[in-house]
Amino acid sequence: MVIDMKVILENIKELVQVEERARTWVAGKEMKELKVLREAFLVISDDQIENFGLMQDFDQKLIEGAEMIMEIDCAGKIVMPGYCDSHTHLVFAGSREQEFVDRINGLSYEEIAGRGGGILNSAKRMEQASEDELYLSAMARLEEIKQLGTTAVEIKSGYGLTVESELKMLRVIKRLKETSPMTIKSTFLGAHAMPVGYKNNRQEYIRLITQEMLPEISKQGLADYLDVFCDKGFFSVEETAQLLEAGLKYDLQPKIHANELGLTGGVQVGVQYQALSVDHLEHIGEAEIKALLGSETMPTVLPGAAFFLNLPFSPVREMINAGLPIALASDFNPGSSPSGNMNFIQSLACINYKMTPEEAINACTINSAYAMGVEHSCGSICRGKLANLIITKALPTYAAIPYYYGSNPVETVIINGEIY
Ligand code: NIG
Ligand code: FE
Repeated sequence: MVIDMKVILENIKELVQVEERARTWVAGKEMKELKVLREAFLVISDDQIENFGLMQDFDQKLIEGAEMIMEIDCAGKIVMPGYCDSHTHLVFAGSREQEFVDRINGLSYEEIAGRGGGILNSAKRMEQASEDELYLSAMARLEEIKQLGTTAVEIKSGYGLTVESELKMLRVIKRLKETSPMTIKSTFLGAHAMPVGYKNNRQEYIRLITQEMLPEISKQGLADYLDVFCDKGFFSVEETAQLLEAGLKYDLQPKIHANELGLTGGVQVGVQYQALSVDHLEHIGEAEIKALLGSETMPTVLPGAAFFLNLPFSPVREMINAGLPIALASDFNPGSSPSGNMNFIQSLACINYKMTPEEAINACTINSAYAMGVEHSCGSICRGKLANLIITKALPTYAAIPYYYGSNPVETVIINGEIY
């Protein structure tokens, strides 16, 4: 028997990111705007946001007919949509702190990769790891980011680089989708690095991806999107185009890594193939901004990777001034961003990229929801969307979230109406 149960969040100090009608994203000047209700309530029915408004307008009629009512007092606290982390690699085996130390001692990320470290190092460990081991460690990471407020996450393969190992990673992501309450999207990133054995025969690895991996992935329904690391020393624009074209034959929309290490044409090729997002963007010029304007591709910045690798900061202010939207994601992975803390990502966005707290929150909710294709159900407080919510500890205002960098402002997380 299903009981008609409603949960009411009462006396909310600030109800952040409310929408009367769901928008697709926010761009340019609008990014500075954040709709907030002060002294508010929110009603959850089953797994959805049923209603919200000001406490003074709360009416018992709103909960009439409910067989069970649970009230949560949110006095002094902020309620906002759970974060959507639209770019992670959180299925991985082992860790890479030795490379972290090598970088402290002067080696660059590209030098480490060139010696067979980096992504290839993770691929070696991936090959040896069992599916259960990978599942359990990724589940623990999901639990960790859930406690930090993330309720939707995109996860990539890309540490496999062989048919068996890529399929293994994607099966682990599928199992996470089936067993975690979070909204999860899966991205196939076979073109993450060139395996050593194919260095002199790059087309053979591309053939392996397009002729062997993609058909099997499609047959088993293992991926929602296709990614390519289009950058200096990784995959060229021509190779990327070839891969994206193959992906589109299997209805896999691109979401690509671009312009992390140089002005490589990654953004343009992404836009050309209607990528849902182009991510990293440390190197952006006028041509990239022009290509993105008027497109449906979400420019996504990964402040954790730039922080951890000491990369130049993406020119976010210029992009916003040009009228573009920006999404933010953690890039949680063992090589360039070993953290999935979206609160800290907002601090970095404010401190290093001069984004305002409003811009940072928009970039971690509504815009990152779009960047992973879940804007219809996640990313804002909107009637009919999933009740995926954060209740913070007592805080003066939402601007205190990026301000108290490194601490966890989250007290309670609600996913699909369930309280965690
Ligand atoms: O997004 N840039 C490419 N891929 C990852 C890093 C992967 C790794 O170093 O393991 C990133 O930064
Ligand atoms: Fe990445």
